Formats: sequence, structure tokens, C-alpha cells
Amino acid sequence: MKRSNGSPIRFVLPKGRLLPGSLEILQRAGIELRPPAERRLIERIGSYEVLLARAFDVPVYVEYGIDVGISGSDVVEERGSDVLIPLELPFGKCRLSLAMPAESTVKPEDMDGYRIATKYPGITRRFFEMLDVEVEILKLHGSIELAPKIGIADAIVDIVETGNTLRANGLVEVEKIMDVSALLLVNRIAQKTKFEEINELVWKVKEVIGDGF
Ligand code: PRP
Ligand code: MG
Repeated sequence: MKRSNGSPIRFVLPKGRLLPGSLEILQRAGIELRPPAERRLIERIGSYEVLLARAFDVPVYVEYGIDVGISGSDVVEERGSDVLIPLELPFGKCRLSLAMPAESTVKPEDMDGYRIATKYPGITRRFFEMLDVEVEILKLHGSIELAPKIGIADAIVDIVETGNTLRANGLVEVEKIMDVSALLLVNRIAQKTKFEEINELVWKVKEVIGDGF
């Protein structure tokens, strides 16, 4: 890859569910990255410096100076990150939805005073603000479906992929708030200072998607 200034491209990969898809699409694009070895969180691999971060933090790293990253559109929306999004990636497809115990029949616009458990307080607040409904938001970091099941929340806003976790916990989807997909993120300044390298990377990934990744 041509280098304008010889410095590596810094690429932040997400830990967890999006990691295998991220590595696969990059590999198919001829970009052989792997997560840093053992407990190291950053490693030089060829012309890249690879970082491994929590999925929820990836857009923050990219906004504050890491050149490129991959994360879900749910996280970018929640963080309100100021990053460039040159490509939507064909994996990590799911949706962010409002869900409630199956026996409940209340509509979102009638949820005034309800307590909503979620990993996404920003998106949840904005969703209910649009409905002019005031809810209490209970921020949790995972296993959100547990909250209504044990009675500490009335509803949840969380990721739904197959719907298995909802079903297994007696919950039903009330309303989809947004479709979610993995995204390629680029830092605004890097897009200028590493213009050629970043464009080449984006084109390579775009070609793989065009070939039906
Ligand atoms: C995610 C998400 C849902 C579930 C959705 O949880 O938060 O709970 O997967 O997938 P499904 O519709 O196919 O069941 P995850 O397993 O990542 O754990 P966490 O919520 O504890 O982070
Ligand atoms: Mg979960």
C-alpha cells in the first residue's frame, strides 16, 4: 500500500460479536489483520497498527484520533459520534427494539412513568421524547432481558437478532426503533491526512461487498 507519510494506519477492531465478521471481510479485501496477541491491546501488523477495544468504545476511539474502525450503527447512534461512515458492512445485522412482557398490552405512547432497562439510554431517551412520553431509564450493561423478568423494569430497549432471548424470557417486541448493521468508520482528519491509504482501504472493502460478501 502506498504511504504518504510512512506512518501506519491505526485500525480499531471491536471485541465480541462483530470481531469474526470484521476480520473476515478485511481478509477477503486482502487486509490481513488479527487482534493483538495475548493480553496486548495494540500491535503493529504490517502497515497497520491494530487496536482491540470494547465495541461500545470503538466510535469514541475513531472520533478522537484512531484512523479507522468497525462498530455497530447502534453504538454510533448511541454515542452520537462525529465520524465519517464510508461503508455499511454486510454483517452484524439486527435491530434495536422496545420489548415488554408478553402479557402487557400497553403502547409506547402510554408508557408515561414506566421504567425502561437498556444499554442505550441516549437512543431510549430520544425515542420517548419524540413520543412526548416521560420514562425512567435504568442503565444496565448486559443481560437486559432479566430486568422485566425479575420485575425491576417495565420494558427494555435492546438488540434483537433471532428473537430467541426475548422469547426465552417471556418478552415480546413492541416496536423496532432502528435497524442495526456493522459500519466502517473513518476519522475526519485521517480522511484528509491519509487520503490515499484510506480510500484504497475503503475501495478494497467495497469490492468485497460488491462481490456478495
Ligand atoms: C445480545 C442482545 C440480546 C441478544 C439478541 O445479547 O443484547 O440480548 O443478544 O440476540 P437474539 O435475538 O438472537 O437472542 P448478548 O448475548 O450479546 O449479551 P449481553 O446483552 O449480556 O451483552
Ligand atoms: Mg443481551
